[in-house]
Amino acid sequence: MSKVVFIGAGRMAQAIIAGLTKQSDWLIVVSNNGNVNRLEEMEQKYGVQTTDSWKEEIFDADVIVLAIPPEAHDSVLKELALFIDKQFVITVAAGIGPSDLEKSLPEQTPVAWLMPNTAASKGKSITLCAKGTQMEQVHEDMLEKILSSIGTAEIVSEEQVHTLTPITGSAPAFVYQMANNLVQSAKEAGISEQQARKLVADMIAGAASMLQTEEDPQDLINQVATPGGVTAEGLEVLEQHDFNSMMKQVIKACHDRSNN
Ligand SMILES: NC(=O)c1ccc[n+]([C@@H]2O[C@H](COP(=O)([O-])OP(=O)(O)OC[C@H]3O[C@@H](n4cnc5c(N)ncnc54)[C@H](OP(=O)(O)O)[C@@H]3O)[C@@H](O)[C@H]2O)c1
Repeated sequence: MSKVVFIGAGRMAQAIIAGLTKQSDWLIVVSNNGNVNRLEEMEQKYGVQTTDSWKEEIFDADVIVLAIPPEAHDSVLKELALFIDKQFVITVAAGIGPSDLEKSLPEQTPVAWLMPNTAASKGKSITLCAKGTQMEQVHEDMLEKILSSIGTAEIVSEEQVHTLTPITGSAPAFVYQMANNLVQSAKEAGISEQQARKLVADMIAGAASMLQTEEDPQDLINQVATPGGVTAEGLEVLEQHDFNSMMKQVIKACHDRSNN
């Protein structure tokens, strides 16, 4: 059994814990910034152990997962550096790469940077992963187990995680924004909220399975949009509002925020 200590108990920690609890061989200990109610809820919901003092849990931990905001890393890493002795440290924070962790932690600390998305809670995250320089086979094995518990993964460079974070980490929110609009329009047909949500969710799942054939998205658009037809009219409006340029701005805004 491997012991994993989560520092941070928010949305992303819970999404990963939901995956890990499906594997039987983890002892999971969770701590946070003092929100006791949240820890009690997590004990009930996931059957994890919780603590108000993560420092006491580090000495026999195998993995430490930092699921805290990027801006909390400086102070937590400073404290962690005092307690760590070659335990594997993983962060899921936007903008905090393995080189940042290695700079802040003792030499030879194995580290990795994961960029999951909230579909981790359903075992469906596509997770980006950049490894540090000190990982050995035992860390590779633990990493593989963590990644497989929350979905699929791509191993990429630190620079690529920075660049791709908006695409895999943030973009689910953009899809949900579109879904929200479609649900509202569907309800105007007189169906229930529940029916509208199911209809939109199934539509997106179907579109996703078409994309998973790796066919060119433009070809998929062409298959839907008969020239002069109903869909073509809708696409024309997207074009009039410069949808492509808007998406570029959206991705740029994410990059700008994560670089600040
Ligand atoms: N949400 C996503 O879709 C997503 C996707 C990819 C990556 N991430 C990354 O995941 C990280 C966490 O995001 P989130 O969405 O899970 O945030 P969240 O829901 O706001 O949770 C943040 C957690 O961090 C804890 N925390 C804050 N400062 C701390 C400190 N100094 N010491 C110990 N615990 C501290 C909070 O404690 P309390 O419980 O006491 O408030 C809370 O449990 C971020 O770095 C984010 O970039 C998020």
